[in-house]
Amino acid sequence: VVMKEVSGLRLLETTLKEAFSLAEVVVVSGDSDSSLFVKNEMGRAAVSCIKERLVDSKKIVAVTGGTTLAAVANMMTPEIKHPDVLFVPARGGLGENVQNQANTICAKMAEKSMGQYRLLHVPDQLSDEAYKSIVGEPSIREMIQLIKSASMVVHGIGDAMTMAERRRTSSEDLEKVKKGHAVGEAFGYYFNQKGEVVHKVKTVGIQLDDLKNNKCVIAVAGGSSKAKAIRAFMQQAHHSILITDEGAAKELVRDF
Ligand code: BG6
Repeated sequence: VVMKEVSGLRLLETTLKEAFSLAEVVVVSGDSDSSLFVKNEMGRAAVSCIKERLVDSKKIVAVTGGTTLAAVANMMTPEIKHPDVLFVPARGGLGENVQNQANTICAKMAEKSMGQYRLLHVPDQLSDEAYKSIVGEPSIREMIQLIKSASMVVHGIGDAMTMAERRRTSSEDLEKVKKGHAVGEAFGYYFNQKGEVVHKVKTVGIQLDDLKNNKCVIAVAGGSSKAKAIRAFMQQAHHSILITDEGAAKELVRDF
């Protein structure tokens, strides 16, 4: 029975890898919608993926926020081979509670891996004026450059409406998300089912275009309720690595 289950997961992995032209797919068993244990298993799989792919010249890891990335941080273990790995938050404030903020998660990953971290202190919901003056600040500018130079990016993907509500999005922006039929969200960008951006939260740090610059990009997202969101994001995330669960994977391959 175990063998059969394992080969089922492997089949899901290869199917998804081919369908979205991904570099690698890992599917853990179960559905994280209904089990915290499964979310931690995705976290464990993400940690081994991160470690495998850290190489000497590539040791800046940018991470996003969210409960899934918090699970990745929880599963982090000391990094013996690369003690000088540096964790940074991928983007500025995106309206999360403190335990789910990228800053918190990157500090925790560094602590548990015995590595280093740098934080980015940028408030949520920047006006154009505030944005311009903040990015002009030398210390922030230096931090943004460091973040953009990350060789590895580890990020979550969320259901669009769930994220918009969790961030206490203004009614104007909520309209944009709804009218644009957004189904998924990552890095503060909202995507429709074709993978097109319909709304974007203004903050500094990694922009979607930065992901193309030869970075190792690892998406960690699971649960059958996130299948639409994962599909939306993955359509334009070729060569990424996807760490997901059986719940999401089964839902994703249903339409193939
Ligand atoms: C947020 C990220 O912190 O976490 C989002 O900014 C991501 O881009 C979200 O979609 C995922 O959250 P969770 O809790 O579903 O892992």
